[in-house]
Amino acid sequence: MNADLQRLAAEALSRGGIDGLPDGHFIDGAFVAARAGGSFESVDPGTGKAFARFAAGDADDVADAVSSAERALAGPWGRMKPAERGRILTAAAALIRANAHRLAVAECLDVGKPIGEALGDVMGAARAFEYYAGAADKLEGETIPLGRDTFAFTVNEPVGVTAHIVPWNYPISTTARSLAPALAAGCTAVVKPAETTPATALMLAALLVEAGLPAGVVNVVTGFGGEAGAPLVAHAAVRHITFTGSVATGQRVMKAAADNVTRLTLELGGKSPLVVLADADLDAALEGVLGAIYENAGQICSAGSRLVIERSVHAAFVEKLVARAAALTIGHGLRNPQVGPVNSAAQLAKVEGFVEAAKARGLAVAVGGKRTTDPETGLGWFYEPTVLDDLAADDPIVQEEIFGPVLAVQVVDGFEAAVAAANGTQYGLVAGIYTRDLSKALTFARDVDVGQVYVNEYFAGGIEVPFGGNRLSGFGREKGLQAVTSYCKLKSVAVRL
Ligand code: NAI
Ligand code: MG
Repeated sequence: MNADLQRLAAEALSRGGIDGLPDGHFIDGAFVAARAGGSFESVDPGTGKAFARFAAGDADDVADAVSSAERALAGPWGRMKPAERGRILTAAAALIRANAHRLAVAECLDVGKPIGEALGDVMGAARAFEYYAGAADKLEGETIPLGRDTFAFTVNEPVGVTAHIVPWNYPISTTARSLAPALAAGCTAVVKPAETTPATALMLAALLVEAGLPAGVVNVVTGFGGEAGAPLVAHAAVRHITFTGSVATGQRVMKAAADNVTRLTLELGGKSPLVVLADADLDAALEGVLGAIYENAGQICSAGSRLVIERSVHAAFVEKLVARAAALTIGHGLRNPQVGPVNSAAQLAKVEGFVEAAKARGLAVAVGGKRTTDPETGLGWFYEPTVLDDLAADDPIVQEEIFGPVLAVQVVDGFEAAVAAANGTQYGLVAGIYTRDLSKALTFARDVDVGQVYVNEYFAGGIEVPFGGNRLSGFGREKGLQAVTSYCKLKSVAVRL
């Protein structure tokens, strides 16, 4: 780890927090207290102790933020040349990089994740602004041939005010991946970060203004889902909602959007399979599996939470996997362990509930299977890296999103059974495969009903590659140039000459 980051992390660890975190909503270019005056604590999952307070938003704060975003559309932002929008996004990327260490420490305290992962997320956020900066002046329309006497063309207009409902697992990168294309398209935005992780969205909004974004273009209202999220997604002036989170809340958001016929992108998580065929590079596959389920303590929408493995290599592979899982270092994120805490006491209870229910059904736990604490302090909300081996296809551990460091193993006989197992849940976000057989890899890619397929590297790709789900995992695509179209409304003009 870089010396400056190491110093900041050590300081934050010994003091249990950092100075100067914003504590208000960010509305019309300034931090403001909640209208009703309320606030709430954010807790460091690595200690279970509060380290900051944030404004508790409600419908009045949301109304202020949405009016601010509406005014900003009609102001200088709406008249700005696309290239100038692109320059501001480029400047934002540079400012995120310049402030990366402080952002990473804040993210680490709020989410719990290892500081190295947090820094990666911050750099990913910078990269999102850089990527979409280049798109701002390339949102070209088309001309449509109708013959000599008619001229027809299309124009990409910004949809208007956009809402961004962000979960707690990747706060800064999820915020950046939807804000950057929205801004590239010329939209304005109101962001509602998760109640357990509001810090970096606020810091990001302030950096955007520092980069030259006019006041009011990006607003952040902090607070709880029911109080701040619900009025935002129900607001008639919001013309697009990007929601990332649980299926149940996504369904609620979709119903609210129906009342105003608001456009919607839903990214709702999954139960993604990682298939290991007998012919694979098994060492590479082992690293892939460990990263797929234990990064961010398994709290990843696209986590490879099901290992689907051919019987002939299963026993030896799981033996190695169990040894590696047992040896992973656990600790406070600021000490950069391999596995950090789970984000909240509620999420820890949820993870524990799944595994305890499995034990009660008589299932054996191959490794892990209990809550734990930071070995240095005895504090925090940790869960041991866990493997449940050789599960039936209909077991809840196979079917349900646990969102924790719990891997379900399914043993299959042959390639076709592996494809069937991969498709065997209601989710359809990601599917990974490790094989040396190109034909099998591409047949798998053809036959799995998911938004993205990873071959021989789980989580392969970056901001350039479209990302989203099928079936219960949602719809719409983020990342890639494709994502900008979510924030554009297409107008066609036909002229009789
Ligand atoms: P959630 O879906 O309730 O929360 C996500 C975001 O939605 C938060 O910002 C929350 O404040 C907001 N929200 C909640 N109710 C809302 C409403 N009525 N209207 C508008 N916004 C609302 O997720 P939660 O309760 O934090 O986690 C529950 C489970 O969801 C997790 O155990 C995990 O399985 C899944 N999840 C999936 C994520 C993904 O990346 N797809 C991210 C986070 C959670
Ligand atoms: Mg927190």
